Amino acid sequence: MNKLILLGPPGAGKGTQADLICHFLNIPKISTGDMLREAIASESELGKRVSGVLNSGALVSDEIIGSIIVERIQQDDCKNGFLFDGVPRTLGQANMLVDMNVSFSHVIEIQVNDQVIIDRISGRRFHIASGRSYHLDFNPPANEGLDDLTGDALVQREDDKPQTVTKRLHVYHEETKPLSEFYAQKSNNSELMYFAVNGSGTVESVFESIKVNL
Ligand code: AP5
Repeated sequence: MNKLILLGPPGAGKGTQADLICHFLNIPKISTGDMLREAIASESELGKRVSGVLNSGALVSDEIIGSIIVERIQQDDCKNGFLFDGVPRTLGQANMLVDMNVSFSHVIEIQVNDQVIIDRISGRRFHIASGRSYHLDFNPPANEGLDDLTGDALVQREDDKPQTVTKRLHVYHEETKPLSEFYAQKSNNSELMYFAVNGSGTVESVFESIKVNL
């Protein structure tokens, strides 16, 4: 069964590639970032608790992420697999998944250097309701400023402002990067396949280098 994790720094193209992979494998995308932003947009209790954390570029607690994931993977559409986009993000979350007996077929790391990330994030525009992302130059919508499917206005994410991006990159290197080693080691001793791709090419070329390994 295809159960995948997509790792990589903020702005590496995880969401972009996740959509392509999920369409290719016909599995749902589980993006904790999208789920948290939806909670904020709907002004739910969860949204109120996490709004300040997201805007600051810090990470939401492992406990909150755990409860979101448990509920999500029990839904019917996950019976034949799923892709985790942006989760796990700490060793605590990775170990939590081990404790929950959730195993994975592939862990894909998208590697992109910090300067490319800053360029990508500064041009990114978002359709909040669906999580679709665009780029003013690299992946523009058909009609300027509007989502391709709904025609809703696109916005810049609050946490895409320059100083918050710097903080998110710092958090990534401190908290999330150690997961590469964690899964590379697991890959030697289990059915799980870990591989890294260079994410600095075009969207299509990055997808090709992922697809050949699936
Ligand atoms: P989340 O939404 O997961 O954000 P992120 O990991 O920081 O990743 P991004 O969404 O910023 O980027 P991406 O890699 O998806 O890139 P994209 O495809 O958009 O998390 C947000 C926040 O939520 C976190 O900071 C944290 O607070 C919280 N959170 C979420 N999950 C959590 C967890 N598990 N634990 C704790 N807290 C959690 O691409 C970027 C841009 O580049 C786009 O404009 C795109 O069009 C463009 N682009 C993509 N690929 C290419 C390419 N190959 N060439 C040129 N341009 C490209």
